[in-house]
Amino acid sequence: MRKAIIAGNWKMNKTPAEAAELVKALVPAVKDADCDVVVCVPATDFAAVKEAAEGSNIKLGAQNVHFAKSGAFTGELSADMLKACGVEYVVIGHSERRQYFGETDKTVNARVRACVAAGMTPIICVGELKDERETGYTDIIVEYQTLMALHGLSNDEVKASVIAYEPVWAIGTGLTATDEQANETIGVIRKAIERKYGKDVSDAVRIQYGGSMNPGNVKGLMAQPEIDGGLIGGASLKAPDFTSVVLYNK
Ligand code: 13P
Repeated sequence: MRKAIIAGNWKMNKTPAEAAELVKALVPAVKDADCDVVVCVPATDFAAVKEAAEGSNIKLGAQNVHFAKSGAFTGELSADMLKACGVEYVVIGHSERRQYFGETDKTVNARVRACVAAGMTPIICVGELKDERETGYTDIIVEYQTLMALHGLSNDEVKASVIAYEPVWAIGTGLTATDEQANETIGVIRKAIERKYGKDVSDAVRIQYGGSMNPGNVKGLMAQPEIDGGLIGGASLKAPDFTSVVLYNK
């Protein structure tokens, strides 16, 4: 059985003081969660979140990582730097980075390798655009993005990775994939992993759904057999909403 993992992706929100306030509210609220709980926060909030989450079941995540060890990459952060701040998970290849910052499948793969080499868990985002779904290319797109992102990892490293299936048309739009659509496409991703790495790997890898997941739709999505968790944007910014999502089975 795969353990569910619910991660908040705060995106470009929250000052350190606001971050500490949110995490302090979450600590007692989610302490009995049955799933892994992660908050992926801006780097400027790492210290505040680490301190506020100390001794709790809330893990620290980042939203990106550079692929080089160090060097002349103004504005970037290396995997070792994140790790030294207590980061355990890194969102990689989010569609906003692909759309606005020129992220490609190749750079996503390089970032995943750097993240894994530093001993952190990647949360690898894949997903189709609206017109790709409408033209019937969803499966090809998500299979390709997933296998490219994982390229070069060992079977054990793939097993320990997290994939987030985020249909781009469902992000921040209030539109959610239906439970069945999300389950089906996540099944396609798992099958692609099975073909390349074998069933013991595809049975172990955790695949989240992301895209307007909230307290109202989390139960239905999480009841689907292929869906192992969620990557939550808007609903992760308020303690009551994120708590309800994390405690979806209570
Ligand atoms: P929303 O939950 O705001 O749609 O964002 C989803 C997302 O992009 C998480 O990474």
